[in-house]
Amino acid sequence: MHNLRKYDLGAAFTFFILPATPIVSAVTIYGQIPLAQTNTAYAASSTTLAAYNETILTPPTISNPPPTSHYTVNLVRDANTVSGLSIPHVGPSFWGFSIEMSVVSQVLGKNSTHLAPTFLNLMSNLQERAGGILIRIGGNTQEFAVMVDKLDNGRTFGKTVSGSNATTKTPAVLYTRDMFYMAFNISSLVNVKWFFGIPFNDSMNWRLTIAEEAQDILGDNLVALQAGNEPDFYLSFGRRQIKYDPADYNSDVDSLIKVIDANPRIPVKNKLLGPSVATGPWTPEMVWETGFIDRFKDRLYALTVEHYPDNNCAAQFNTGSPAVPPQSVFPAYLNHKDRVVDLVAPYVNSGNLAQQAGKPFIMFETNSASCGGFAGISDTFGAALWAADYGFQMAFANFTHAMMHIGGQNVFYNPFTSPPTNQSSYHQWTVGAVYYSTLILAEAFATTNTSRIIDLQANAGNIYTPSYAIYENDVLDKVALFNYVDDPTGANDLQVTLDLGSATPASVRVKYLAASTVSIKDNMTWAGQTLGNTFEVDGRFRGTLDIHTIPCSPLPGECVIPVKAPGFALAFLDAATSDSADMSGLSQATKTFSTTAWTNIHNTATFNPQEVETSNGHAGPNRGGGHDGRLGTSSFKGSKMTNGSKSVRTSAFPR
Ligand SMILES: *[C@@H]1O[C@H](CO)[C@@H](O)[C@H](O)[C@H]1NC(C)=O
Ligand SMILES: *[C@@H]1O[C@H](CO)[C@@H](O)[C@H](O)[C@H]1NC(C)=O
Ligand SMILES: *[C@@H]1O[C@H](CO)[C@@H](O)[C@H](O)[C@H]1NC(C)=O
Ligand SMILES: *[C@@H]1O[C@H](CO)[C@@H](O)[C@H](O)[C@H]1NC(C)=O
Ligand SMILES: *[C@@H]1O[C@H](CO)[C@@H](O)[C@H](O)[C@H]1NC(C)=O
Repeated sequence: MHNLRKYDLGAAFTFFILPATPIVSAVTIYGQIPLAQTNTAYAASSTTLAAYNETILTPPTISNPPPTSHYTVNLVRDANTVSGLSIPHVGPSFWGFSIEMSVVSQVLGKNSTHLAPTFLNLMSNLQERAGGILIRIGGNTQEFAVMVDKLDNGRTFGKTVSGSNATTKTPAVLYTRDMFYMAFNISSLVNVKWFFGIPFNDSMNWRLTIAEEAQDILGDNLVALQAGNEPDFYLSFGRRQIKYDPADYNSDVDSLIKVIDANPRIPVKNKLLGPSVATGPWTPEMVWETGFIDRFKDRLYALTVEHYPDNNCAAQFNTGSPAVPPQSVFPAYLNHKDRVVDLVAPYVNSGNLAQQAGKPFIMFETNSASCGGFAGISDTFGAALWAADYGFQMAFANFTHAMMHIGGQNVFYNPFTSPPTNQSSYHQWTVGAVYYSTLILAEAFATTNTSRIIDLQANAGNIYTPSYAIYENDVLDKVALFNYVDDPTGANDLQVTLDLGSATPASVRVKYLAASTVSIKDNMTWAGQTLGNTFEVDGRFRGTLDIHTIPCSPLPGECVIPVKAPGFALAFLDAATSDSADMSGLSQATKTFSTTAWTNIHNTATFNPQEVETSNGHAGPNRGGGHDGRLGTSSFKGSKMTNGSKSVRTSAFPR
């Protein structure tokens, strides 16, 4: 019945193994968006590929009346007198990442001996703040993932079309066992723990290789395995044919569990994730009503959902529907209501059910819009404000973690993106504005496992000036202040009075997320430091750490925090809370991964010397990994990590 997409493994294997020549032609065969083809196509590629798109939208007009710019937030020091605080946020960074399986090599590196140092640096920065990071490898492409023994040129990933698949363009991802060694190697360098997904396309013939290999190779670095990805879309995506409702999903999970129970190569049998509904055709409640939680809670590690506030499918895939003009939806991302409170509200009940079941509750895949996000929105300072507010709101609603999706070079919303394939020898990475949001949440919740958050609804609940308080060890520890208003005149800069009464410290330390307008992608800073603009990033901060010390008035007990329009401030009140260490000084992670290895190898490549002078890029004998123009890409080669010192130099090739 469900045997729809029996995958022709033989054919795929042949395709990738037999040709002795580089598989450059695959670009044409699979009709991917063309990548830059020449050394000088820098500009062309930056306009072609969504991840480097340069669209600048007009900031939304200021609401009329504008928010009150001088307002007071009444705060109490003792958490026990505050009602509505979230659960304590435990463990690694609240924001983790979800990497679409088909683009893993664009993000993590080419293979287990060629990890991307920039990626490692970006993880190291989060680890410094939050202790660790959760990463999910999966997405729609996991349904057709097939492990093969070997791929050309030491690659760990490849793609082919997914069988006789007329209803969806999802390519089948080919991977080798090395994918798990890659993950394992990353975990040995930075504290990343992993989720993988079990292909769910064929519930009569379960393909459990991912479960077997992941458990075998990753051990404790594997947190859990996803049982089904957005099952509410299985019918419309053609994954199932006749009907598919939450009861059918229950049956499939049950069938999967039986097969896992019978498989000695999957010794851990109780670390599944579900239901991962997209909250499209089904609400989470439709699944809960089937008795899913009680039936499976002994087998589940966590309850999961997935959701995007919008989609850009019409534009990205020419579906024929009218494309959403990004300018028309930009304002919806720049307030606390439309795509923050309203987006999270449908999950409050689920968060409480998860708590009752004693399970983590994870937003397993999300970002600004599905089908790649929006040009001019998803990678802007405005999106950074939104993703911080959205993350805080999820944390307030008792989500335990959220995975920010990474779709590779053809999408707008990535928190980080490697350079286009063919230029990886001399251009560097690009950090999406939303990466800064992940840092902010990591700093806000830090590492005590006691941080609880509340949406303060200050300034009469004005949707352009949201604010949160974070309590650590039961004591007020930080205040987060947003200003979504974009007004270069300064007339809408905020002066927020924190009224702390007798708990007022002598001063507070404030870190700002800053940029000139919500529309831009460049020159963004967190506490004065930047990771660099497009193609400039190696994952390390540049510039001087700038923490503002703002004196408070003991009488009447106030600290006044300015917040620019637009802007975000995180105020550290640690002086008031002597039981917490002052963590505000965190900046560049002490453990870094060097990307200077190119000097050893670049003379094997031909390229424009000027480009080399102005960059810190890499070249390899195969110029950046993949030869199919889509998969290998980038991979700032890291290998032979010589650990021990704090700065880990990675070098791609034997000296
Ligand atoms: C880029 O790709 C084109 C065509 O695929 C190839 O001819 C060219 O040599 C490549 N350049 C580099 C620097 O790898
Ligand atoms: C916080 O929780 C994590 C994950 O459970 C644990 O590894 C860590 O040791 C905890 N930290 C503290 C300070 O308890
Ligand atoms: C990774 O790729 C490099 C370069 O192509 C190759 O030399 C190396 O053997 C590969 N590593 C693995 C584990 O396949
Ligand atoms: C990475 O994985 C390979 C297996 O491909 C292994 O030989 C190597 O020692 C690992 N490197 C690190 C740094 O863990
Ligand atoms: C989150 O959980 C806490 C602790 O159980 C509870 O008091 C609070 O009301 C929950 N938050 C929401 C929004 O339901």
